[in-house]
Amino acid sequence: MRIRRHFTSLGERGIAFDRRRALTWLGLGAGAVLAGYLTAYLILFPAPILPGHQAVPRVLGLTVAEAQAEIQKSRLQVTDGGAEPHPTAAQGVVIWQDPPPAVIAPEGTKVTLVSSAGPPKIPVPDIGGLDAALAQSLVSAAGLIVSQVESVQAAAPTGLAMLTRPPAGAPPHVGSIAGHRRRPTAGGRDTRFTGDGRRHRGSSESSMTSGGIRIAPSVLSVDLARLSEQVAKVLEGGADWLHVDVMDGRFVPNITFGANMIETLRKLTDQPIDAHLMVVEPERYIESFAAAGASVFTFHPEATVHVQRHLDSVKQHGMMAGLALNPSTPLAHAEEVVRDLDLLLIMTVNPGFGGQSYLPGSSEKIQRARALLTAHRAQCFLEVDGGITRQTIGSAHQAGADTFVAGNAIFAGGDPAREVQELRRRCMVTA
Ligand code: DX5
Ligand code: ZN
Repeated sequence: MRIRRHFTSLGERGIAFDRRRALTWLGLGAGAVLAGYLTAYLILFPAPILPGHQAVPRVLGLTVAEAQAEIQKSRLQVTDGGAEPHPTAAQGVVIWQDPPPAVIAPEGTKVTLVSSAGPPKIPVPDIGGLDAALAQSLVSAAGLIVSQVESVQAAAPTGLAMLTRPPAGAPPHVGSIAGHRRRPTAGGRDTRFTGDGRRHRGSSESSMTSGGIRIAPSVLSVDLARLSEQVAKVLEGGADWLHVDVMDGRFVPNITFGANMIETLRKLTDQPIDAHLMVVEPERYIESFAAAGASVFTFHPEATVHVQRHLDSVKQHGMMAGLALNPSTPLAHAEEVVRDLDLLLIMTVNPGFGGQSYLPGSSEKIQRARALLTAHRAQCFLEVDGGITRQTIGSAHQAGADTFVAGNAIFAGGDPAREVQELRRRCMVTA
């Protein structure tokens, strides 16, 4: 049987298609679109077809004179919008215009031009009295370049930036600064002059170019039968200073070296020799240690009476003056003479022996020492000594130390050169 299909027309369903009505709506829509188009182009953005209207020329990148000529050619006027610094555009070049290029504007419209005043002017940072490495990084951070470094002889401690040319606060162009600082003695290649004109042995540049970190291997832990070989190894590893522990069996319960060890090391290297005197009446050795070639002479305040006088005497003998504080010795000892110090040594063990463990309270004391030096704008190294290892050096560095003595950690293993490098690296990764 066939099934009949049944289709119902639209008309049959009651929805009539009204052609006339549709055309009316279509006409209204098109009219609205046309009206919007004409409003936009004839009223809001007058089209170039209108008499007396033209596109604003693009004058960005032209000199102001060239831009003025272009704009006037288009029968527009120019308004001076002044000059602003620009990192790349040369001085006098147009860097902004309003109305922007290609806008259709009526004749006589004023086009404001802003020109470049050249690269931004950066004030020279005040680096006077800062550690040379820190001074360098501040200059770079300001976007300036150190173009020249000079040494001068002065009464101030060595290794510090003295002044800049242009002077602090002056606004030179990027890259035009000429650095002018005193080259460091303890960390620099040149020499330090004593009051009587004698000069100390030179020292290498590296100790001041390692981001302000100095590694000072302590010869206390050297196998003395292989002294020169072991010293050569640490120097190969980049050791900045050599640390010599002088013990008299009275201030500390141990006896070690005297000026003869300084003399011996001086024959092996020009690097700074950092003499740490754990002896009573250290002043008795100032002259002989200076003559032997020591660069730094550090003593303990409890071991003598006239600390300030002796610090002064150390400097008069052409050495850097250091004060060492035992774990139980208050920082106040250093505060009283802070202006006389070239170096503050915070003992991180009780002195007398190598291979002891870093005392847990040390980092907090280093922090207080750093705060003290900062508060007084003191121009001195902050050294730590005792139990410095791969595990502890990061904490001491983070606390603010910049000079690290290490004996056992460097010489007990088989590769002193690598250990020096590793200790420095540990400082870097915690920086
Ligand atoms: C300790 C000495 C240290 C000693 C450090 O009285 O002043 O210089 O050599 O040795 P380590 O690094 O082994 O603790
Ligand atoms: Zn020491």
